[in-house]
Amino acid sequence: MIRAIVLAAGKGKRMKSRRTKVLHEICGRPMLWYVLEALRGGGIHEIVVVVNDELAARIGEFEVPGVLQSERLGTGHAVRVALEHLEPRSGGRIVIACGDMPLVTAELFASMAGVLDDEAGSAMALVTAKMPLPSSFGRVVRRGSAVERIVEVSDATPAELAIDEMNTGIYAFREEELRDVVARLNADNAQGEYYLTDAVASFADAGKPVRAVPACDHLDVLGINDRTELAQARKEMNARLCAHYMRDGVTIVDPGTTYVEPELEIGADSVIYPNTTITRLSRLGRDCVIGPNSRLSNVRLGERVTVRESVVSDAAIGDGVTIGPFAHLRGEAHLADGVHVGNFVEIKKSSLARGVKVGHLAYLGDATVGEDSNIGAGTITCNFDGEQKNETVVGRDVLIGSNTSLVAPVEVGDGALTGAGSVVTKDVPAGERVAGNPARPLPKKNA
Ligand code: UD1
Ligand code: MG
Repeated sequence: MIRAIVLAAGKGKRMKSRRTKVLHEICGRPMLWYVLEALRGGGIHEIVVVVNDELAARIGEFEVPGVLQSERLGTGHAVRVALEHLEPRSGGRIVIACGDMPLVTAELFASMAGVLDDEAGSAMALVTAKMPLPSSFGRVVRRGSAVERIVEVSDATPAELAIDEMNTGIYAFREEELRDVVARLNADNAQGEYYLTDAVASFADAGKPVRAVPACDHLDVLGINDRTELAQARKEMNARLCAHYMRDGVTIVDPGTTYVEPELEIGADSVIYPNTTITRLSRLGRDCVIGPNSRLSNVRLGERVTVRESVVSDAAIGDGVTIGPFAHLRGEAHLADGVHVGNFVEIKKSSLARGVKVGHLAYLGDATVGEDSNIGAGTITCNFDGEQKNETVVGRDVLIGSNTSLVAPVEVGDGALTGAGSVVTKDVPAGERVAGNPARPLPKKNA
């Protein structure tokens, strides 16, 4: 079985960040997450990650073991530390990848599995890529067609810097050869680090062939070293994710301004308009219309839901619901089928039953509203008494008049009505009509 070592302990000085480089996110996931996904997708499941202290504390999230490299002495040293923790296996193969290349594909790793089983009996294989110059990548120096060595930018001559074939930092090794070469690395170079890349010259000098495997696309192997490369990778990843959802039948009007994440579910025939962000495992049914200018985060949407120019987070929404423009739903908002939430409405931790309408300028917090009730413009639940949040319960078929203040805790019974401007401080029985400040029962119609 092939095993993998992922190098991720580097501080990432060029990021100018307090955070470890591979924890920087693109499209809602740390860079390291993508590399691990690609390895697993390529059939490599036995993985160890070389970590620093910060990453050690978070490695559990990635469901993979970490090996602590307490001193960052270079990629060669990182591999040495990892090998000390890996049980030796005779005839084993080890793939090495860096945690800072989130665009790497499962196909590339799948192709590494059998790459050393060639007739030449290569000791190692490395993935190379033609890249635009200038570049921070190590250069592949060849003699004739054979790979002779890798030279790092800080050690390279001007002639070597003109080489446009790069070391991507992805390798496969015969395990015995790797253990042997890593034990012999030295730090005699411009950065004073143990370079894993020196393995290439070591094998070549000993007459052991080093196999170069060209990468299909240089973007797949882009190593992120600074914030400009981070932005470049995010853009490319977002384009790939949008393409994935479009292939599943979703219309994305402008992928350039639609921001998505992996592992979303978006039903076919849904349409996403520009400037829209969908995050945190959101699940959308079929035929939804989202955007423009909207943000959905951790939402469950039924079918035929419309969300225009609105922000919806941590919400569960039924079929045929219309939201917006300019609505804000958050913190456990539950909307049953056919609910309408209109402009300038905020809904927090509230449950709206089937057919409820909250058309304009309202705030419902900690509220439950029964079927087919209509909440008038300007209605608010006064849910906070300065110390705690209190609940409002509105029954079914209730008409809450414009500008009603529902002073919680309070309950308005089924079929009741509040007049415009009511300040409801006491429970309203079913069928009662109240108005005023404080709201009092109105005379019965035929009294
Ligand atoms: C490395 C390669 C370079 C290649 C490039 C591809 C070496 C010496 N150079 O350079 O040839 O073109 O990757 O992206 O290997 N890391 C550790 N411990 C350390 C140092 C680094 O775990 O002590 C990890 C980093 O977290 C990172 C990876 O190794 O994920 C690569 O390190 P980085 O400093 O980015 O190396 P490059 O200069 O990019
Ligand atoms: Mg790098």
